[in-house]
Amino acid sequence: MTTESAHPTNPEADRRDKAPGQTSKHLTTSQGSPLTDTDHSLKVGERGPILLQDHHLREKIMHFDHERIPERVVHARGAGAHGKFVSYGNAADFCVADFLKPNKQTDVFVRFSTVAGSRGSMDTARDTRGFATKFYTEEGVFDLVGNNIPVFFIQDGIKFPDIVHAVKPEPDREIPQAQSAHDTFWDFVSLHTPAQAHTMWNMSDRGIPRSYRMMEGFGVHTFRMIGPGGKASLVKFHWKPKLGVHSLTWEEAQLAAGADPDFHRRDLADAIDAGAYPEWELGVQLFEDDGTATFQGIDLLDPTKFVPEELCPVQLIGKMVLDRNPSNYFAETEQVAFHPGHLVPGIDITDDPLLQARLFSYLDTQLTRLGGPNFAQIPINSPKNPVNDMFRDGYHQHNIHEGIAPYKPNSLDGGCPFMAELANGQEFPALEYPQETAGTKQRSEPVSFSDHYSQARLFYRSLSAQERDHIKQAYSFELGKCADNTIRERQVQCLAEIDADLAAAVASALGLPAPAPQQDIDDLPLSPALS
Ligand code: HEM
Repeated sequence: MTTESAHPTNPEADRRDKAPGQTSKHLTTSQGSPLTDTDHSLKVGERGPILLQDHHLREKIMHFDHERIPERVVHARGAGAHGKFVSYGNAADFCVADFLKPNKQTDVFVRFSTVAGSRGSMDTARDTRGFATKFYTEEGVFDLVGNNIPVFFIQDGIKFPDIVHAVKPEPDREIPQAQSAHDTFWDFVSLHTPAQAHTMWNMSDRGIPRSYRMMEGFGVHTFRMIGPGGKASLVKFHWKPKLGVHSLTWEEAQLAAGADPDFHRRDLADAIDAGAYPEWELGVQLFEDDGTATFQGIDLLDPTKFVPEELCPVQLIGKMVLDRNPSNYFAETEQVAFHPGHLVPGIDITDDPLLQARLFSYLDTQLTRLGGPNFAQIPINSPKNPVNDMFRDGYHQHNIHEGIAPYKPNSLDGGCPFMAELANGQEFPALEYPQETAGTKQRSEPVSFSDHYSQARLFYRSLSAQERDHIKQAYSFELGKCADNTIRERQVQCLAEIDADLAAAVASALGLPAPAPQQDIDDLPLSPALS
């Protein structure tokens, strides 16, 4: 095989020729045999039947028949970009993760997404946006799998199939595609009232971002960071866009969807191509890990709650720049596999029951979506640091492992030593924090999860008059699409528990009487169960 350039004036074509699967200068079968014709099947005579022995025809069609893989069950539509994260170094005081050391630079891949629509749906739908970041650190991959909204619909992962069934198109006619424009969505959120705060964010301008470049990102759950000496803190992650947070109006979103359903995908790719690289600062809200997992009356294990920045400011700990578009959408953006359990020493999970269920779900779904257990070997998912995992065989195994004893302990070929064994017993931070835990096995809801309205109210009342008007219009429009009057009335009653003026405006737009709240909402503290 020669190595000289086939395209001396076109380095991009040269690079492509060297990609695995494209190393030959001429067309071949997948087995490397030269082809002389790929336009005509092997036939008996000029107009006769096709022969079964035409291997090229069968191989070409077989491969095409299997080009599609299942789309993600949620977050199917997305756009990705490569970039770099540089740590400011201040997080080293409370987190031993290597990539947070001063000025450390780490490669990243980010995938932004909508949640409810299918892979071919429009970008500007009213929906939550995913904001998932893969950090290729020297201590392994760390995934921060977040959203552009700081709260979630449910408090326990066992409800995830329920909310997604309610959000997805109705199963009889697969209509409508829009998340919030149908009976099942409003039926669920008005009956399952922990969803009211997230729904309020969806109905606000945050539900229709102007651009992926202009979105905040949130880890939503509370995580644990382990600092020098093993001291633990609880943290909430934030991404702050350097371009600020901007939204589309409803009318702009409709026009964009008609004129260019790829509006956000194109915007991200064009900006990066033009050298206008989007930037975010990573920040954390830091809480004392005193065993209560609460902060000023807010249960930090309840993913339907955020902590206002006025109560706990965000400390900025690094900056991310996205400066390279993927060169192949399928290989990178479609095959990337994020997982909230991809952690590095210094960052661990907490007992948030939504987070805990996610730890099962992503591996499980990717096993099917990416065709077997070896998807960590797909280039976009591979760690950039050395790996030695004792996992063997399975569908799509690309590694040719050596040695005869992939188990531990072994006395035959040295096996896979731990770092401490290589370094004569020196201590290294464990992946898991030694959290104490005890209790009675039970299915129940903590009383501190019982407040479903105060944060929706807090968010609504923090907005300008114009932003509140947009929320009133959004509820009125979306509930107007709901055919069942009982569901509309029940949702308007939920709004009455949040804000009387909001409930009255939406009720009036729907031709319903304005309901009264069932309790005196203005006297309620932020989170009554804990105060
Ligand atoms: C994607 C499950 C909650 C953010 C997914 C996928 C599943 C899933 C199955 C598709 C993954 C794939 O095919 O690779 C769940 C479950 C949840 C949950 C069971 C609750 C129990 C959340 C929450 C967030 C979130 C709270 C945000 C904090 C995302 C994002 C993606 C995603 C950003 C897309 C990742 C990508 O771009 O590939 N989720 N999810 N999910 N989820 Fe969740």
